[in-house]
Amino acid sequence: MKKPNKILNHLKKQIQNEKKNNQIHAKITYIHENKIHVSLKNPTKIPKNTQIITHHIKGIITKNNHKNLEIKLTKPHKFRLHDKIIIKNIQNETITHKLEKIVSQIENNQLNEDNLETLQLLQTQINPEYDTNITYYNHKLNKNQNKAVKKALQTSKFHLIQGPPGCGKTYTIVNLIKQLHKNKKKILICSHTHIAVDNVVEKLENIADDDILRIGNKNKISQNNLKYTIDEHIKKAPEYSEIQKYKDKIEDIKSLTNKSSINNDPLIIDNNCESIFSRLFRKLLPTNNKTTNYINEVSYDENSIYELECKISNIENSLNDTIVRNVSIIATTVISASSFLIENVEFDYVIMDEASQVPLYLSLIALLKCEKFI
Ligand SMILES: Nc1ncnc2c1ncn2[C@@H]1O[C@H](COP(=O)(O)OP(=O)(O)OP(=O)(O)O)[C@@H](O)[C@H]1O
Ligand SMILES: [Mg+2]
Repeated sequence: MKKPNKILNHLKKQIQNEKKNNQIHAKITYIHENKIHVSLKNPTKIPKNTQIITHHIKGIITKNNHKNLEIKLTKPHKFRLHDKIIIKNIQNETITHKLEKIVSQIENNQLNEDNLETLQLLQTQINPEYDTNITYYNHKLNKNQNKAVKKALQTSKFHLIQGPPGCGKTYTIVNLIKQLHKNKKKILICSHTHIAVDNVVEKLENIADDDILRIGNKNKISQNNLKYTIDEHIKKAPEYSEIQKYKDKIEDIKSLTNKSSINNDPLIIDNNCESIFSRLFRKLLPTNNKTTNYINEVSYDENSIYELECKISNIENSLNDTIVRNVSIIATTVISASSFLIENVEFDYVIMDEASQVPLYLSLIALLKCEKFI
């Protein structure tokens, strides 16, 4: 198959734009520990709570009054007052990396047949083929809606459902999703905003909760759909009790270290702390190990917290893989389709509601994960 050069050039242009637009030039005007204030060369609308990265240090925007930002950095830094810095939105960085990966895959002929066909069709606008042996009728749908679902089931590659506002496009694709789910297909539902994604997911009331995963920032997901987030799936897994056990241990260690640090002299441990120490050490250490002195104990605490966190993260990673593999329906914005959670997941269908609102280059993040798209 020929290389999709039109799309390749379009992607390269978009990457350049993304890179240029994702550079906020700023000057540090205040520093207090990990909090910095910066004045901006050009005002930006970057919202509060956006995760950013500046000179390899991550942070979060805590205030934006248009010309000045307040940023909380996640770790110690070497910035000084009046330093000029460049701030980048992490999500935009992720998108750029994802697009660069797609460009590299196209250039090095690493795209699979399905994806190559998707790009060819998008740039040439050739109509797909339809398998007319597949029939469909649902008495809840009107004539055109029935036709749309039937065509979507029959298509060899993609089907476009168009119509004026309020004519029932979302209603139709919800029906289609239910039908595909019955046919045991793996589906990615996506759209340009969280609201649009949630609007579809909320209508999937007859599908089991365990079969839907909603990926995205919890603050932006509708209340009704929070039950589908990865955290809620993890809570239902049998391994969750183990995670909880490790989290409790970490809390024990932290509260113990805090209590001990109330003493000015680190070698003095009050009775209360000592009893917690011995309780904890009985849990964590082999019985023949004796505590030596506070310094050793504190460093042991830090190591054990790290070890426990690693254990939690190992269990969570393996659970993430299992959940993502087992659910039939995953729903996310096109941007969050670049999430590491579904980095290597292939879908039978990608269903994009309000697709006209999604720029082509962003839609590719989702479309290159599927065999067919609607
Ligand atoms: N066949 C149908 N039977 C019953 N109600 C329907 C049917 N089709 C659409 N509706 C209802 O009509 C309303 C508008 O439908 P819907 O939101 O699906 O339209 P839309 O084309 O997606 O609109 P928009 O362009 O604004 O996204 C909804 O309340 C929906 O439940
Ligand atoms: Mg709609």
